[in-house]
Amino acid sequence: SLKIAIIGSGSTYTPELIEGMIKRKAVLPIGELVLMDIDERKLRIVGELCERMIAAADMPCRVIRTQDLDEALRGADFVLGQIRVGKLPARVLDEKIPLKYGLIGQETCGIGGFFKAMRTIPVMLHVAERMKALCPDAWLINFSNPAGIITEAILNHTDIKMLGLCNVPYNMFKSIRESLGLDHPNIEYVGLNHLSWITGIEQDGKDYLKSALEMGLNGETMKNIPASGFGKELIRMAGAIPSSYLEYYYFQDKKLQIVKDMELSRGEKCIQIEEELLGIYADAELHSKPELLASRGGANYSEVAISLVDAIHNDKREVHVVNLLNNGALGFMRDDDAVEVCAVVGKDGAKPIRIETFDNPHIIDYMRMVKAYERETVAAAVSGDEDAAMRALLMNPLVGDYNAARGAFDELKEAHKAYLPQF
Ligand code: G6P
Ligand code: MN
Ligand code: MN
Repeated sequence: SLKIAIIGSGSTYTPELIEGMIKRKAVLPIGELVLMDIDERKLRIVGELCERMIAAADMPCRVIRTQDLDEALRGADFVLGQIRVGKLPARVLDEKIPLKYGLIGQETCGIGGFFKAMRTIPVMLHVAERMKALCPDAWLINFSNPAGIITEAILNHTDIKMLGLCNVPYNMFKSIRESLGLDHPNIEYVGLNHLSWITGIEQDGKDYLKSALEMGLNGETMKNIPASGFGKELIRMAGAIPSSYLEYYYFQDKKLQIVKDMELSRGEKCIQIEEELLGIYADAELHSKPELLASRGGANYSEVAISLVDAIHNDKREVHVVNLLNNGALGFMRDDDAVEVCAVVGKDGAKPIRIETFDNPHIIDYMRMVKAYERETVAAAVSGDEDAAMRALLMNPLVGDYNAARGAFDELKEAHKAYLPQF
């Protein structure tokens, strides 16, 4: 049977994952589930709910709660990474400090996402190093953000088996199926994490992309992004359906104004939701995931994560969108660039599906520019080289200005200093 370890189990999202495991209990024989977190209180409250859910589902699974990383990893088959270094208060700093410099503050894009990467990469590299020692054959399935940059770091700096995940592609595919009334479309999806487009829709030999573009179909609506919609004109111009995260790039000024005008930042709002959730979770009569969790942006995470574990463990060879090294899938990206694309997933892992002809120069150029940012970001995270940090930020379309970058960098570096061993 399988041993699964969840690193960052105190997250109020964890009951989602447990729900996914329960749903697949017939095909995923989980004998041991280790819930690991450094936050004692959240680990206890969330962990006890998870234990009740598993007991109510009659799963023959031992649940262990621990604050010890090595204990969690030892002998694991799958390690699910969902950490938030510095917790939500650190996210709030990422969201609010950039505003003073005229920059968008967002937890995964722009300079906020950059600092989240600075905090998270050293910890995830440490997790990878301990996996190498304690469970060298295990898969790391990571959704700690910024998920694409973490993938870029781990797959280029360690040799563990790892895939990066996000719920955006799943939600985009779902909304395409629903809006176009298609039940088995072939969807072409291209991008980096939180910078992605749908570039093809086909079913039974019929092309649906054109009509989708004419309709001005939006990729999806996410609970966490104050949506404005792209409009038909822009979607036609891009020649593809952008993920909602592209709103931050395509409508920077408007988006900056929207985040400035918010009474609470998204992170502050999430602190409130989280406290409310913990109150609900603490009720010993609760044996399932409460409705309130749906007000977070992580909808369908569990489906994405646990169906991936299922595909690997049961060698299903089915198509999933994952973050992994390009290895030739996109001819215009380097082999060692982490990309978010369709891949065939089975017991040997994920093999990205090669896109033979791709002729959307807007997407090619945009991806290369943001990848240049991501590559320098990883270099800065690993080395602590502030020149690399500045080069990264100057390549980021949401930053770009040296004085703004320098000012915000210095202030964020000071604010986060407890979590930035590299600087
Ligand atoms: C989406 C993104 C995640 C992100 C989440 C934020 O699900 O794909 O990467 O973590 O939204 O949601 P929140 O409720 O924390 O703002
Ligand atoms: Mn085993
Ligand atoms: Mn995501």
